[in-house]
This record gives sequence, C-alpha cells and structure tokens, in this order.
Amino acid sequence: MSNQENNPQPSHFVIFGATGNLATIKLLPCIYNLEAAGRIPGDMKLLALGRQVHSDESWRAHLEKVLHDKFGEKVDPIVFERFVQRFSYMAGDLRETAFYQSLKNKIYESGPAAGSNVVFYLSIIPKDFNTVINFLDEYGFSEPRGLHRIVVEKPFGSDLETAQQLNRSLHKHFDEEQIYRIDHYLGKETVQNLLVYRFANTLIEPLWNRNFINHVQITVAEDFGIGTRADYYDKSGGAMRDMLQNHLMQLLTVVAMEPPASLEADAVRDEKVKVLKSMRIIPEDKVDDYVVRAQYAVGTAKGQAVHGYMSETGVAEDSSTETFTAAKFYIDNWRWRGVPFFLRTGKRLAATQSTIAIRFRHPPQHLFHDESFEHIEPNWIYLSLQPTESMHMEMHVKAPGLGMDTRVVSLNASYRKADEKPLEAYEALLLDVMRGDKTLFIRFDEVEWAWRVVDPIIKAWAKNKDSMQSYPAGSWGPEGTEKIFDCHDQEWRND
Ligand code: BG6
Repeated sequence: MSNQENNPQPSHFVIFGATGNLATIKLLPCIYNLEAAGRIPGDMKLLALGRQVHSDESWRAHLEKVLHDKFGEKVDPIVFERFVQRFSYMAGDLRETAFYQSLKNKIYESGPAAGSNVVFYLSIIPKDFNTVINFLDEYGFSEPRGLHRIVVEKPFGSDLETAQQLNRSLHKHFDEEQIYRIDHYLGKETVQNLLVYRFANTLIEPLWNRNFINHVQITVAEDFGIGTRADYYDKSGGAMRDMLQNHLMQLLTVVAMEPPASLEADAVRDEKVKVLKSMRIIPEDKVDDYVVRAQYAVGTAKGQAVHGYMSETGVAEDSSTETFTAAKFYIDNWRWRGVPFFLRTGKRLAATQSTIAIRFRHPPQHLFHDESFEHIEPNWIYLSLQPTESMHMEMHVKAPGLGMDTRVVSLNASYRKADEKPLEAYEALLLDVMRGDKTLFIRFDEVEWAWRVVDPIIKAWAKNKDSMQSYPAGSWGPEGTEKIFDCHDQEWRND
C-alpha cells in the first residue's frame, strides 16, 4: 500500500501552529498516544512552533495541561517523560524570515544527518500556507527534491481557483510524493470499515445501487459552537468550506465509489475521483432548491443558555458565514442516477453525531399491510461514525401473536469489542505520515473536483445574502430543510 522502504524515517516532526486549537485537541494528544503505543519511530524529535513564548518548563506545563484536559488522570508519567524528552518548542512569527533561520539552526544543530528527513505539519490558518511554503523553500527545505514531507490541513483553498493556486505553489517546491493533504475523516474507523463492509460482503454489494436504494443521508452534527476559532472559521470556514467540501464529500465518495482494482492508494483515489466527476453540478440560479444555509441563534447547549453565532467573539458584524448547511446532490452514473444524496452538517445542533443512513426502496408488493407504502417503514442500513462506531440494519419481522402484522427490528453490530480502545483518526494518519504511507491522504484531483461541485453554491450565496436562515442553538437546524427532499415520504433521521 505504500512505498515505505523508499521513505526513510523522519528525524524531525515539526508542527506549525502547535499552540492552536487543532494541535491542542487532536495532534498533541494523538502523538502522546502513539508514544504510549511505542509507535513513534526511534529517536525522532518533535519540534513545536507557535506564537506564544514558552520556556522549557512552561512548555512542559502546557503539554501536561493539554493531556490532562484530554485524558484526565490517565496520563502515564513514564510515557509522558519520553514524550517531553522528544519535544522542543520554538516561538516566533511565521511571517518573518528570522524564524526560519532559527528553525534551520534548530533542525541542523545536532549535525546534518539529523535534518535528513523532516515532516512539516501546517496546522495553521489557510491564508498562511503560501507564506510558510515559500519560506521553507527559501531556507532550503525543498532540497534535495523529494526528501521532506509537508502535511497540509483542510480546507485546501477556499474555492477552485485558490485551491489550484495553492497546489501550484506547493508543486513549485515539492513533489507530489512529498505532499500529504489531510482529511482526518479518512482515518476514521467507520470510513475504512465502509470499504470492508461493501467489498468483503457479497450480501451487501448487489443491493448497493439505484435499483434498491431510495436515498442516502450523510449527517455530521455537532452540539458545540465555534469556540475560540472565529479567526479561522468566520473568515475561511463556514459549514460548506470547513466540513461539506471535504469531510462529507469524502464520506460520499466512499459510499458511492465502484470497487477499486486494489487497495493501492491510487486505485482507491481513482474510483473516488470518478464519483466526484459524475456529480451533477447545481446551476447557480437553482442553488436555493438544492441547498440550505443558516447560522445558529441563541438557544441551549447541554441544558445551558448559549448565544448566537453573531455574538461569538471575533465574528464580523456583517458575517455571512453559515454554521449549517444541508444539500441534495445527484451522481449521474450507471449505479446512482436518480438517487439523491442528502448531506447535512452544522454546529450547535441538538447532538454530536455523525451517521450515514441508507434508505432502501419499498418491496414491489405489500402483502402484509393495508396502508399505502408511505406509512410503512422501509429498510435502512445505518452506519454510525461517532459517538459510537456501529452499524445496524432495520428490517421487518412478523410481530409475535395472531395475525400477520410486522414490526421493525434492528440488527445491531458494534464492531468494537468492549476491551478495544477507539483509535482517534489523527493517530492513524500521523503514524502514516511518519511512515510515509499516503493511502489515506487526498490527491489533488479529489480536492479539485469537490470544489467544482461546491463552487457554484458559494458563488450563488455570495450574490444572494438573503438565502441565510437561522436556527436556535440546540435544534436540528432551520425550519424548512425538507424542501430539498424529492418525495414526501423522505425525512431526516436524527436518531
Ligand atoms: C474539523 C473542522 O476539520 O473537523 C471542525 O475544522 C470540526 O470544525 C471537526 O469540528 C470535526 O471533527 P471530528 O473528528 O470531531 O468529527
């Protein structure tokens, strides 16, 4: 699956934005977990870069706090010691040349061999990507060509044009082999399991098409707001750019793709790109019929009153950033033509849960019911990504007793055994970067085709500010999202 033999283990793993939100809640805890599992290669050094000033002691205290907030008392002091020993911290401004000179000195201070292969993880706001890439080149980190690795967080660009510019800029200095475009949803167990579910079971695949499936719903709901992330979210994010263009689109491609020729990274990506290329582009003047956008207003979260998006610290007074979107897409290929894919995501919703729900068609004859089909529950396959990792199938059985009534039962499969600890998606992906395995990373044509689908929507929104709705925090989104359904018996599954 990878070409790890040609990828020597990195000497340094450098995190730009090490005191930011992503590093705090995901990267640092996941690297600690990899340390605990003994998976960090040999004597690899970790170098954290950020704006805050830290002494060795205060950085150590910072790490302690980050891990304590995430794992409580479960932090192992011996593992923690090993973890801290690998780390050093460097403060500075990534827009200043002196910062890169110090970075270079730091990496090469233990001899040239130490700097032989460096991973640069850009956990920074997108508008700084180009600055860092150019400086890395200026300070010699693009030479020799093909050596170092650069990890770029999503969103990759803010539309098709900026994504292409960013890609050109990366390719000016780095080979494709060196570029890791990360979408952590691909590291989630259920997403990988979808491949197994679909392609290792003869029971499922024959039904997985327009002849049997009525529609697909993909929901990524979060009950929290934007927290302290306004700087990124309000300017570069929004539900469409932050979530739908990448995480939800990736889920859609894995649900819809054809069986790949093998599990080689490119074989899988080829199939995903084919799906994206077959997606029907929504004309700009029809966007309102297919897509809803909204911002959260005052409401509740976990029983507490919370304020609306426009009152969050750092949000622009005239912000038109959506915190919720629901959209209907069609994939015009042999397998899926006519089957709507409903994608929905939002912040400050009623729950934090991510699901893929596949609704099947009704049987062609109704032997067991007097009512019309619209009152009869169809079959569903329901895959939960989080908070639980599970799948269940909803089917009719005969209700015990006289008569021939049916009832729906759910065949449940939680595929994690009680003693198996869930793996954070970032753990798997960070380890892949360290080992040089690109299977679960995104190729540029995936990014590009996903932007082609999303671009008309964001263009239409930019022209029509009135399309913004609102919803109370703690609800399932604005009223009227059903307008995107194409049959009156379709409804959102919120369970
Ligand atoms: C990130 C988004 O990529 O994914 C966040 O920037 C979002 O806004 C997060 O909250 C969701 O990830 P997960 O793994 O917690 O579902």
